Amino acid sequence: MTRVYMDHNATTPLAEAVADKMMAVLREEFGNPSSVHHFGQRAKAVVDEARSAVAELVGGDPSEVIFTSGGTESDNFALRGAAEALEPSGRRQLVSSGIEHEAVLNTLKALARRGWQSTMLPVGATGLVTAEGLTAALTDQTALVSIMHANNEIGTIQPVAELTRLAKARGAVVHTDAVQTAGKIPVNVRALGVDLLSISAHKFYGPKGVGALWVRRGLRLLPFMTGGKQERGRRSGTENVAAIAGMGVAARLAMAKMAEEALRLGALRDRLEQRILQAVPGTAVNGDPGTRVPNTSNISFDRVEAESLLIALDLEGVAVSTGSACSSGTLEPSHVLKAMGLPTHRTQNSIRFSLGAANTEAEVDRVVAVLPGVVDKLRSLTRTPVRG
Ligand SMILES: Cc1ncc(COP(=O)(O)O)c(C=O)c1O
Repeated sequence: MTRVYMDHNATTPLAEAVADKMMAVLREEFGNPSSVHHFGQRAKAVVDEARSAVAELVGGDPSEVIFTSGGTESDNFALRGAAEALEPSGRRQLVSSGIEHEAVLNTLKALARRGWQSTMLPVGATGLVTAEGLTAALTDQTALVSIMHANNEIGTIQPVAELTRLAKARGAVVHTDAVQTAGKIPVNVRALGVDLLSISAHKFYGPKGVGALWVRRGLRLLPFMTGGKQERGRRSGTENVAAIAGMGVAARLAMAKMAEEALRLGALRDRLEQRILQAVPGTAVNGDPGTRVPNTSNISFDRVEAESLLIALDLEGVAVSTGSACSSGTLEPSHVLKAMGLPTHRTQNSIRFSLGAANTEAEVDRVVAVLPGVVDKLRSLTRTPVRG
């Protein structure tokens, strides 16, 4: 069976050129970038080239890019590093939103156990944080504001530049998790005005286990990985040179293809979405239709448990994802859709389709062809009538 992969927000396959570069680096550039001899300097040059590429991807300076083990570490570093650096200021409030990734939410919980107070901003029905919401939450105690650039489940893009202006006017440091936007849509740290921005390579055809935190020059940030002072003393540990090189190539590829690919994926996504809405009754799109990353569609299927639909689609060769988490046999509603105030029949029944490089119109049509039958079958197993 040929399979259709529509789960690119979870991860993407390596681009061919990325794999080639990584293999070459693994084979030929074994030096430690901290070594002063020839071998070390060659490895350092590889890391520096990747640093320039990543900096360019987000419109920053290479000296502001710190390589990490991925989006989760970048989020942890941003929040923990900034909080610790701000401790002497006496400010104790952290402001974020209920739809953030667990890498942010659980870090905020960990910081709360150490005396930090977090204020979670409400989001509207389409998942947008508003300027009014932030203004109401900001105080003279606000140390840090962390609002994601785009959400991984629904794709909603936040008005980060506007929110940042408000937060900075009150003296707060601002972080944004751009894991779902960097490499997909233009991201420019200067235009956004943020102090800290998280990136992950495996969301844009780079390898897993490598990412970056962009840190505005001059920002005080305490390292949470201490050791041999790599990355200007901010993130110790011998660099994963091959993975970093792969991230650099992935960044350059993303920049070269971004405009064209965003248009292509947007058109494919719209085709998929419109056809599903037409072909399957009791469906609704979640998120903000006007302000979304172009590859993401999140759809609720009334009277269908998301996990069952995911498994049934997988049997048909279609790989998608559910916003809900299935833990110990009970289906947890998606925390994102819940925060948007959607009713249970939307929060537990949502499927995320996230498109990427290999997807074609023919694949979209295949998904649309199998869905009605799969949904009908699952619905025939339950008794409640189809809602609107
Ligand atoms: C918005 C967001 N932040 C952070 C992460 C974590 O990134 P990583 O898998 O590189 O740790 C993800 C990954 O799913 C994400 O979607």
